[in-house]
Amino acid sequence: MAELQSFEGKVVVVTGAGRGMGRAIAEKFASLGGRVAALDLNADEAQETVAGCTGGPHLAKACDVSNSADVAAAFREVVDTLGAVDVLVNNAGIGRAPDDGSDEMYALMAKRNEELAAGGPATTHVDHLIHMQDAGWKSVMGVNIDGAFYCAREAVRSMVAAEKGGSIVSISSTSAQSGEGAVHYCTSKAAIIGMTRCLAGELAGRGIRVNAVAPGPTNTPIMAGIPQEWIQSMEADIPLGRMAVPAEIAEAVAWVASDAASFCTGSVLVANGGSYFF
Ligand SMILES: NC(=O)c1ccc[n+]([C@@H]2O[C@H](COP(=O)([O-])OP(=O)(O)OC[C@H]3O[C@@H](n4cnc5c(N)ncnc54)[C@H](O)[C@@H]3O)[C@@H](O)[C@H]2O)c1
Repeated sequence: MAELQSFEGKVVVVTGAGRGMGRAIAEKFASLGGRVAALDLNADEAQETVAGCTGGPHLAKACDVSNSADVAAAFREVVDTLGAVDVLVNNAGIGRAPDDGSDEMYALMAKRNEELAAGGPATTHVDHLIHMQDAGWKSVMGVNIDGAFYCAREAVRSMVAAEKGGSIVSISSTSAQSGEGAVHYCTSKAAIIGMTRCLAGELAGRGIRVNAVAPGPTNTPIMAGIPQEWIQSMEADIPLGRMAVPAEIAEAVAWVASDAASFCTGSVLVANGGSYFF
């Protein structure tokens, strides 16, 4: 089975590869022989990722996945430098953005917690939706969904032009099923699954497999923005009793992208410690 998981000489584009899960995914593909293109908003962090990858050649590139012209330019550079794309991992994602109502929601949550701590009835509603501005909604959808679409389109253009198959893996989330989290985030992560299923059908005849991985809570910098009491209550609800580490998610991504998963397309691979079942 090990050789089926080889990416020797394959060109693997990982978005949001500057840190967290994306960095672990980039390192994993590099360790399996892939030539990794690490795309990220933060060019220095993408460069650090590539510096930590074995093998090569690899490429670090600044790219805002929510901007289609930026994505097209980045993929042109990937193809010119490393060759046609074999694998795309749509990992770049954000959970909050300016003007998305999070500040108001956290303030309301603190007020409600104070009411509970004082032993009184909790009368404060922890509203989020009504405080979310258009700009905040669009920022999260722009990265999580527009970005996945722009990158999938460029990756498939490259695969089709090179007349070869390939594999696309997009990172969804347990939130797609549980509904836990903010409305922009849950909606975007559920949309990833719809996109995955649609493209799996459309691209199967071209030998391109399309799958999603739905991680549960994973210990990455994105968690820094979440109150500690939420993290503790999330961990208490996970049957395996803890968050994932990024390398565990990278294993799932590499497997489903590889020839070892040659009959998997349109699937959602859950890696969530047993908390939800798709
Ligand atoms: N950490 C978790 O618990 C968890 C759980 C389920 C799903 N996810 C998903 O996994 C993915 C990775 O999450 P993470 O925890 O590693 O996040 P993270 O915040 O640690 O890292 C995200 C990376 O994406 C980059 N990025 C953000 N916006 C970008 C843009 N517009 N263009 C290009 N790059 C951009 C950031 O610079 C950063 O390097 C995300 O899609 C996230 O929604 C995370």
